[in-house]
Amino acid sequence: MKKFPFKNEIHQLLKKYPTPFYVYDEIGILNSLKKLQNAFSWCEFKEYFAVKATPTPYILKILGKNNCGTDCSSLAELYLSEMVNITGENILFTSNNTPIEEYKKAYELGAIINFDDIGHIDKFIKEVGIPKIASIRYTPKEAFGTEIIGDPVNSKFGMPFNKLLEGYKKMKDIGVKRFGLHAMLVSNTLDEDLIAKNTEIIFKAVNELSNILNIEYEFIDIGGGFGIPYKPDDKELDLHLLSNNIKELYEKHFKEFKPKIFTENGRYITGPHGYLITKVLHIKESYKTYVGVDANMANLMRPGMYGAYHHISVLGKEGNFKKYDVVGSLCENNDKFAIDRELPELEEGDILIIHDAGAHGHSMGFNYNGKLRSAEFIYDGNEFKMIRRAQTLDDYFSTIQGGDIYV
Ligand SMILES: Cc1ncc(COP(=O)(O)O)c(C=O)c1O
Repeated sequence: MKKFPFKNEIHQLLKKYPTPFYVYDEIGILNSLKKLQNAFSWCEFKEYFAVKATPTPYILKILGKNNCGTDCSSLAELYLSEMVNITGENILFTSNNTPIEEYKKAYELGAIINFDDIGHIDKFIKEVGIPKIASIRYTPKEAFGTEIIGDPVNSKFGMPFNKLLEGYKKMKDIGVKRFGLHAMLVSNTLDEDLIAKNTEIIFKAVNELSNILNIEYEFIDIGGGFGIPYKPDDKELDLHLLSNNIKELYEKHFKEFKPKIFTENGRYITGPHGYLITKVLHIKESYKTYVGVDANMANLMRPGMYGAYHHISVLGKEGNFKKYDVVGSLCENNDKFAIDRELPELEEGDILIIHDAGAHGHSMGFNYNGKLRSAEFIYDGNEFKMIRRAQTLDDYFSTIQGGDIYV
């Protein structure tokens, strides 16, 4: 059974604010970060939180205060990082198809620059400067991918080994002194062996590059993608086992120099600690029973986009009595949070809790059908704090131009 930790406290929010909204658990988030940091305490380790997962300054700030950096992929994410005082080499800038302005901002902040293409290295050197510390995203052909991220040969991200060689040589020749290597090969995996197998491919590449180019690599970023148990009977990722496997590989492959190990997880840190709270608006009997809620795919698109499972519980009700499709109000038939899900008997006004929405949830939101983005709250152990207000119709209309639209 999945638990919702704020069964009592949530009533304060429900009295005051309209649903749908997100709530996060600050203590849970920090515990997940500590668990990861402790698991890798055998090496010089740093987690760079993937900002795209939960780009909310309050959350970035509490992570930053706990020795966590940020993995940024866009201009806005760089600004968000700066806003909460995470700067310099506490930022890793991993973008793809990158506009030059974004590189300029990353350079200005002193971020570690991670390149996705040789052409970008050329442009960076020409238009921005010589990076103090840089890495390249490696997509080895033989790596083991996962469903969401796809297989390496069809990946738009990163480069094969021969391009890596060319890129590092180019950077070394132009005067870059400090190097790392980056890879992000899986998404939401609970398979410790898969992560370890990919890590060994990366470790081998670092040694090979080091031998050919005479570079001592300062860090290896083994990526994010550590999974969380979305389904009630999914197992948890065994971080201890994973870390021990990586430690063994590290000791086997690194005798001469000792690179730091970085990760850039998003989901593992915030995923289980965020909930989308939504109210039942309407129940429709058709070929099936549809429960219409006031949230929709624009608030959480993972189920509609990937068919991803998100557990749903009902505030104050337990047991599985009836099968429902839980749907939003978008004019899209994939606007469904659950299909044929057994839930307690529902009625209008019931509050549903959509679990594990803390990463790639609110952040993937959009405005299709003029649906508005929801508010976010965090429980800090004592009380709920609003960390983002809900979007209003005025916000939605505020970018419109064109003269006589209001007449
Ligand atoms: C480059 C990069 N790093 C890290 C992440 C974080 O992934 P996760 O939240 O699954 O750990 C992503 C996810 O899209 C990514 O694209």
